[in-house]
Amino acid sequence: MSSIGTLQDLLHLDMDAIKAYDQAIKACEHENVAAQLRLFRSDHERHVRNLSQELTKLGEKPDARTDVKGFFIEKFTAITSIGTRSALMSMMGNETLTTARYKAALDLQDIPESAKSVIRANYADEQRHLEWIRSALDQKLWERAQPSAR
Ligand SMILES: [Fe+2]
Repeated sequence: MSSIGTLQDLLHLDMDAIKAYDQAIKACEHENVAAQLRLFRSDHERHVRNLSQELTKLGEKPDARTDVKGFFIEKFTAITSIGTRSALMSMMGNETLTTARYKAALDLQDIPESAKSVIRANYADEQRHLEWIRSALDQKLWERAQPSAR
């Protein structure tokens, strides 16, 4: 795939992640977890901005349509049931996907160096998100907090 195709794919991936986090934050019943999910969501917003900048540098108009129903990336999982654990389980799947896609993008040749450093930094965020979610599930983090008023 071309650099432009790769960057555009990652852009859609991050846009899907934002949508999935919106759902997960709504489904989440514990503020200690929801607060962290909001931070991760804002990382994905930053990715959308930095990938858009790289596409612009390559003379491309970033496709960041927000009116699209559903997800761009087929394997993205919608959060359909209320509850902190189920929100985290779905996001673990989604973050596994984003982490794998970023890792694959890093291995590609012919990506300009400035785009590569953006991909590298975003990939580090993805690894951190996945790691936090995995350990929150392991530790049942929500059992350590008072449920928030919904
Ligand atoms: Fe993420």
